[in-house]
Amino acid sequence: MPGSRNCRHPLLTALILPVLASLPVANASVLAAADKEHFLQDLLSRMSLAEKAGQLQTDYVGSEANSRQSVKAVTTGQIGVMVANPYTPRARLREMQDAAVQSRLKIPLLFAADVVHGYRTIFPIGLGLASSWDMQAVAVSARVAAVEASADGRDMTFAPMLDITRDPRWGRISESPGEDSYLASRIASVTVQALQGPILGAGDSIMACIKHFAAYGAVEGGRDYNTVDMSPLKLYEDYLPPYRAAIEAGAGAVMVALTVLNGTPSAANKEMLRNTLRRDWNFQGLVISDHGAISGLMTHGTASDARAAARIALDAGTQVDLGDSLFGDQLPTLVEQGLVPMGTLDAAVRQVLSTKYDLGLFANPYRRLGLARDAPHAEKRLHRAQARDVARRSLVLLKNRNQLLPLKKQGTIALIGPLADNRIDILGSWPASGRPGQAVSLRDGLKAALGGKARLLYAEGANIADDLQVFQLLADNQVAFDPRKPAAMLAEANAIARQADVIVLALGEARGMSHESASKTDLNLPLQQRQLLQAMKQTGKPLVLVLMNGRPLTLGVEGDMADAILETWFSGTEGGNAIADVLFGDYNPSGKLPVTFPRNVGQIPLYYNHFSTGRPFDPEQPTPYKSFYFDTDNTPLYPFGFGLSYTRFELSHPTLTSQHLVPGQTLRASVQVTNTGPRSGETVVQLYLRDVSAAVSRPLKALKGFHKLMLAPGESRTVTFDIDQSMLAFYDQSQRLVTEPGWFEVMLGQDSENLLKTRFELLPARD
Ligand code: NOJ
Repeated sequence: MPGSRNCRHPLLTALILPVLASLPVANASVLAAADKEHFLQDLLSRMSLAEKAGQLQTDYVGSEANSRQSVKAVTTGQIGVMVANPYTPRARLREMQDAAVQSRLKIPLLFAADVVHGYRTIFPIGLGLASSWDMQAVAVSARVAAVEASADGRDMTFAPMLDITRDPRWGRISESPGEDSYLASRIASVTVQALQGPILGAGDSIMACIKHFAAYGAVEGGRDYNTVDMSPLKLYEDYLPPYRAAIEAGAGAVMVALTVLNGTPSAANKEMLRNTLRRDWNFQGLVISDHGAISGLMTHGTASDARAAARIALDAGTQVDLGDSLFGDQLPTLVEQGLVPMGTLDAAVRQVLSTKYDLGLFANPYRRLGLARDAPHAEKRLHRAQARDVARRSLVLLKNRNQLLPLKKQGTIALIGPLADNRIDILGSWPASGRPGQAVSLRDGLKAALGGKARLLYAEGANIADDLQVFQLLADNQVAFDPRKPAAMLAEANAIARQADVIVLALGEARGMSHESASKTDLNLPLQQRQLLQAMKQTGKPLVLVLMNGRPLTLGVEGDMADAILETWFSGTEGGNAIADVLFGDYNPSGKLPVTFPRNVGQIPLYYNHFSTGRPFDPEQPTPYKSFYFDTDNTPLYPFGFGLSYTRFELSHPTLTSQHLVPGQTLRASVQVTNTGPRSGETVVQLYLRDVSAAVSRPLKALKGFHKLMLAPGESRTVTFDIDQSMLAFYDQSQRLVTEPGWFEVMLGQDSENLLKTRFELLPARD
């Protein structure tokens, strides 16, 4: 990627340069490797069966009463990994580490947590980060998370989440890097490197546990935890590459999914865990079950009882039990009875010990916990400047009729909507230790940006959901509810809207609606919010819709009513300031969608890199017996890669250095980009390729490169992409990666639909 080592922003530089400058480090020398080997072997040889099983067992840091029980279990060597999710103070973890180092073998605990999009400083959710198409921004978010989480004693994060998904009904799409394998793979490797830092054993590095292996994002019907069934071609081509990219970047751990993949639950999927992950990808790290995935083998119906579940999971390659106690409870007896070979148990235990070794925990069990007196004041540890900069890069301008945006800082602005003065939802689906009290709401952000230059009026306008009882079923049910009647809230909104020059309407979802276990079939805005939008439209005032949500929404007529639409996802601690920066033009929006927005739910799955089909529909010459819906377009509402700017960019026709690619050589595609608009801005030039004819059907286009660049008004730059044979490879029917000579289309543009084309021929290899 051009420019990836060249930080454009001083704020980002200090944090990220050391990370990008070096690869994640394994062991420095052969000597160190031999020392480690000897150390692990010696320790393993001194462990009892119960102590071995204990290392494969996790526990959660719970209430204080539970903690006492946990401390006891740690002292007796029954726990190897402790999950310490939000707000657990270091003192509590230190108490547990004290117990571990006083246990018979003094094996330190490893502390893990869900640090998914920030720790104290909360960054945009996965879809937001992916919308930046900015690998430095992604790296900064992960580095800050590592710095903050490690300072709070966390050694490992259950992140990055790398599940490709093409189904916005699935609540966890919010966490994902979107629908495209190439973009997600780039994000995967940058995130892993930034989390793990140049030296994994360093005090400010944390281990990445990538998840959820494999293909969790393809659950049937978007229903969480549901079945995944897909062709090997799709699996290898689209769903596996991000995990593999993360492994190649050095990810230390992998979490297995809760789901079935092609008939086998992931925790029991020997083919995926032992063959794909270890044999084919040479993964040498730790494999952790997702919460309850081992007992889940019984509910999936592939293990008859707890004993069988533990045996099958360990045999398949699952090494740590998260959320069950089956490894700890069952494995010692299973080994004694000869049902589980000691060698299988030892290999898993060795892996846990090796992970702790690499994290520097044997050298210093308090490496990340520090001493009691070190705990700084939480607010001081926020990285606000980074959060604001990353957040504004993640915002996507979807519509800007008559250049309504940017707004002027004058007159009267009516800020309306259930997400307008909301510091909870803006933090998104995994707020970790982020505190709503420290978040900047949109109202806070607008007020600060205006600095009294314009009058800012506010009304809530509607509740966030029509049926607040649904929240009782959702994992995150913290939702502010206004008991007033909808009509009264609407009347208040109308009253302030009528006084205003422009209306800014903040609508969308509560964070719990785009979360784990939060699937839905209706992707419209909730009814009360739609009614609010319609009422605001009737005022005749210019209408800016600021969306806060964790999934693509079907915007329908309400989308048409808005003059401008800014997709802000859940943008984190500094979200309100970042959105204000864009609304007032202090930052020119540069985000691009990492996921397709459908027109309606019936179109799902809808994604840009689909096949041609044998009977493609041509909207210019519509005829029957073609692949289409007769009640809606085939096209999306907003395509993958799309996002507007306050300036305009024009691309010249792309050129190639040659019409022929000789195997083993490269050819260069070039395009000149010119900022023809009034202000400086960034755009993303996207490279798509198509294999015109191959042994298996190939997508009409597939992203193979992108370059985000800043141009001043009137400035032109040439963007180049080197194309080699590896970019033309695909999986054949036997899952072999092959290339075939023949013609390829090269497409360049600023989204996946409006593309300029040229072509070249890959020549046959010479014998
Ligand atoms: C279940 C979720 O699927 C996973 O993503 C998370 O890391 C674990 N719970 C631990 O909280």
